[in-house]
Amino acid sequence: MPVLVVNVDHVATLRQARMGIEPEPVTAAYMAETAGATGIIVHLREDRRHIQDRDVELIKATCNTRLHLEMAATGEMQSIALKVNPEMVCLVPEKRQELTTEGGLNCIGREQELREFLKPIHDQGIRASLFIDADPAQIEAAAAIGSEFIEIHTGHYADAKDFRDREKELDKILKGIELAQKHDLKVNLGHGLNYRNILAFRNVPGISEYSIGHAIMARAIYVGLDRAVRDMAGLVRTFAD
Ligand code: PXP
Repeated sequence: MPVLVVNVDHVATLRQARMGIEPEPVTAAYMAETAGATGIIVHLREDRRHIQDRDVELIKATCNTRLHLEMAATGEMQSIALKVNPEMVCLVPEKRQELTTEGGLNCIGREQELREFLKPIHDQGIRASLFIDADPAQIEAAAAIGSEFIEIHTGHYADAKDFRDREKELDKILKGIELAQKHDLKVNLGHGLNYRNILAFRNVPGISEYSIGHAIMARAIYVGLDRAVRDMAGLVRTFAD
């Protein structure tokens, strides 16, 4: 059964808007778990725009499910991952001016570099995922790197301007999932997924995890975090195995 992992970066974004002490991502993580999330995700950015180092440490110390750490493939982040020891690391690209992660990681031509980067992470028993576009060449490169998981970037599908564009992006993702599965890669999906657009994946088998942040936090403003997570976890639970 696919599961929901909840990204709590946006809770930190709200706190950092005032550089204050609330809301607290670790509390949101706890509430998300009690509402049915199977895991918690944080993206520790190089610029520390939202999640801070202490958030990662606190969530790791108190998490009752699993912690996934999204990060850039830098030496600093590699040391942090080895120290914090999350259940999974997901490598993402980072640009300083971006509003959010804008595209997938480029794995093409970086197979050896990324394999070497992940080696100490794998050696420590941490699972690895690569956040990539649904591009066949990126999927082949990810397979060559030897990562257990990929997370297919669903942002272009979520942001599609009209029906035709959306169908085109969805088709790319569906073909990407098939190709990844042929290479024995486990597939997660994430970015821009919400309570409506996620339904397109309802009958797609073989998805391990849905990684969702913004839509849940946006709904939480109106209905509360507990209800917002329960609604999404309940949807994901009805999806194909
Ligand atoms: N997956 C990755 C790799 C991301 O960078 C993000 C955004 O932080 C998400 C999933 C969640 O995206 P959203 O907040 O749009 O649900």
